[in-house]
Amino acid sequence: MIYVSRKEHFNAAHKLYNPAWTKEKNESVFGPCANENWHGHNFDLIVTVKGIPDPETGFVVDLKKLSTLIREEVVDKLDHKNLNLDTTEFKNLNPTAENIAIVIYGLLRPHIDNKFDVQVRLYETERNFVEYPA
Ligand code: NI
Repeated sequence: MIYVSRKEHFNAAHKLYNPAWTKEKNESVFGPCANENWHGHNFDLIVTVKGIPDPETGFVVDLKKLSTLIREEVVDKLDHKNLNLDTTEFKNLNPTAENIAIVIYGLLRPHIDNKFDVQVRLYETERNFVEYPA
């Protein structure tokens, strides 16, 4: 087995907010990410596919095809969007890095052969990132 990864990038705005809480509690838990008038992140997305190289090509997957898939299914949908307002996925789901990674996995998984394991790593900042599934 070998891991093959492709890195893509998108920019998006969001606000972290729990509607069941007061403004004060949201600000205390989510800090600057609770800013009422939104803020943006430069997200780096790394999608890893785990599998056995095909004996004819030597590839696990064609990275050009993986790149196109990520762009069509994820980047075109999220890039330069307000995640809370412009996407259906986060209408009722707090757009934390964790939840964004889970949503991205759900968008990609149906398009990748089940013989491969897939993992999504999402950098919200250079120093903060999440991986799904664990
Ligand atoms: Ni944020």
